[in-house]
Amino acid sequence: MSSKRIDYNNPLPEFEGLKFHVDAFNERRHIQQIFPILYEEQPLTWQLYQEEITDFLTSKRKVKILDVGCGSGFWGLLLKKKFPHATVVCLDKNPLAIERTRYNALLNQLDINLVEGLYDKTLFKHNSFDLIVLTPPYHLYDPKDSNHIPLFARGGDYGLHEFYSQSIIAFAHLKTDGKILFNQMSAGLDMPDYVRFYYEKFKVGEMEFTNILPPISTLAFLKGLYGNLDSQYLIDFAKMMPMLFYTSGMYTKSKKPFSSTENTSSKSQILSQLQENWQTRIALHKEINRF
Ligand SMILES: C[S@@+](CC[C@H](N)C(=O)[O-])C[C@H]1O[C@@H](n2cnc3c(N)ncnc32)[C@H](O)[C@@H]1O
Repeated sequence: MSSKRIDYNNPLPEFEGLKFHVDAFNERRHIQQIFPILYEEQPLTWQLYQEEITDFLTSKRKVKILDVGCGSGFWGLLLKKKFPHATVVCLDKNPLAIERTRYNALLNQLDINLVEGLYDKTLFKHNSFDLIVLTPPYHLYDPKDSNHIPLFARGGDYGLHEFYSQSIIAFAHLKTDGKILFNQMSAGLDMPDYVRFYYEKFKVGEMEFTNILPPISTLAFLKGLYGNLDSQYLIDFAKMMPMLFYTSGMYTKSKKPFSSTENTSSKSQILSQLQENWQTRIALHKEINRF
């Protein structure tokens, strides 16, 4: 996969020898569209954290992985290919995503388990997963417009609600020392608001995150996206959370008091491959608003 462009028009991208059938943005738009593959979303997140994940999983005899909101099945299928001894469960609320993941599993001859439904504590045993991947939607929009936003981009209040509710459930499903891998845009005061949330909610564990792009002002992003910003909801939001972060990260559920590290400088070699920037991210979010 090229790292040189936003390739949301490619219906059959390939990565690490896997093929993924997705709904390219240049096809007919529909609200249940399956999220495409974009270099800075999934491939880069893998490159940033593959070493940690490989160190963590290869030594274990029995491994259970959960891909929450699997979309095209990117994470579940990649992780099954990399760690064939793992049991992999892919879950999505969108029935078409489950069908697409089934199709992509057949296409790549990988054996994974599929669950259709909203992510919920009662679906799986507590303390049972080694790795949980969270890639919740994080589009910023006024709630009055939510019916025009595709399912893959509806992240609830301020794009944060879905990540927070999925994190609470994932914390329960994770074994001690298990890990959450995530890719998440997050507003905040002077750091992504999810760092505050994890600290206040869980009190324990280690969070590390990478700024994929340098943080920008929330207002500048919203003006780029909406031009004349006429939503009081979004204006109030930008006042409350003035900075916007585009990140990937990993949380380890340890018993130690909560700590957080921003590791961007140590990942600079991997990040130097990146051709995308806030302008291309705004272009992507504009595409989402065209549904
Ligand atoms: C941004 S897409 C990511 C798709 C895929 N994981 C990837 O990285 O390409 C978010 C996905 O999460 C699903 N989703 C959102 N909220 C969910 C929930 N509460 N329970 C289950 N699936 C959810 C959506 O249907 C969508 O397929």
